[in-house]
Amino acid sequence: MNPAYQKLLSCYDCMKKRIKFTPKVALVLGSGLGEYAETIQIVASLNYSDIIDFPVSTVVGHKGRFVFGYIGEVPVVIMQGRIHYYEGYDIEDVVLPIRLMKLMGAEILFLTNSAGGVNPEFVAGDFMLIRDQISSFVPSPLIGENIDSLGTRFPDMSHIYDPKLQQLIRESAQQLDICLREGVYLQFTGPNYESPAEVRMARLLGADAVGMSTAVEAIAANHMGMKICGVSFISNLGCGMTDEPLTHEQVKEAADMAAPYFKKLITLVVTSIKTI
Ligand code: HPA
Repeated sequence: MNPAYQKLLSCYDCMKKRIKFTPKVALVLGSGLGEYAETIQIVASLNYSDIIDFPVSTVVGHKGRFVFGYIGEVPVVIMQGRIHYYEGYDIEDVVLPIRLMKLMGAEILFLTNSAGGVNPEFVAGDFMLIRDQISSFVPSPLIGENIDSLGTRFPDMSHIYDPKLQQLIRESAQQLDICLREGVYLQFTGPNYESPAEVRMARLLGADAVGMSTAVEAIAANHMGMKICGVSFISNLGCGMTDEPLTHEQVKEAADMAAPYFKKLITLVVTSIKTI
């Protein structure tokens, strides 16, 4: 059997034994949003390190967990802490948690992240609805023997981000008076931020925001037929667009400041999901 599938099934077995809960929506929390998971009505949680065969690197010692519970009346599973490719994981390990949440029952995936704005009309502090993505700078998580029980060998990517969910996010942002930009998210490997030339390249390629996550997760989820939506918080403008050098602290600080708005938006979107 495909080793990636074997590992997935082993994690699923372990999780299924401990968690008797069927989520409808899977939520991945980006920088600054982690504590949102503690504000929902929690039913159960499971540390990544307690799942046999879950990709926990000895180098980074991941502290993340899955939180199961309700946002309003909607059953959700939240990834509190995501796995990044730049930490040194194989790409199929990066998307294993996404696949696991689908096996647990989640049909909808809500992805969030912090990103650098490369669209010159954006300002730091904006939110961006992800309409499409560019993942060509990271390996596809579908490389290797196809896992036929998850999805087809050559999946279509015409509508990675579900149009109805996009509309729901637009309406929710409007209701909350949150100014929402829209655009294309491009995933680089990181962990270094981009050079000014790379930021210009990203813009030329049609990107509006750049980051180090999300696109590969969306590919794996789309492969499995999940409905996907995503929102980026533009924590900074891309390197070279301002005079200031970019630091992780600055990105974190901006994300922390935006967190209350982001949390409201997530709550409204998820609680409205039952209507679509
Ligand atoms: N580049 C890549 N990833 C990021 C950035 C950025 O400018 N800001 C937040 N995450």
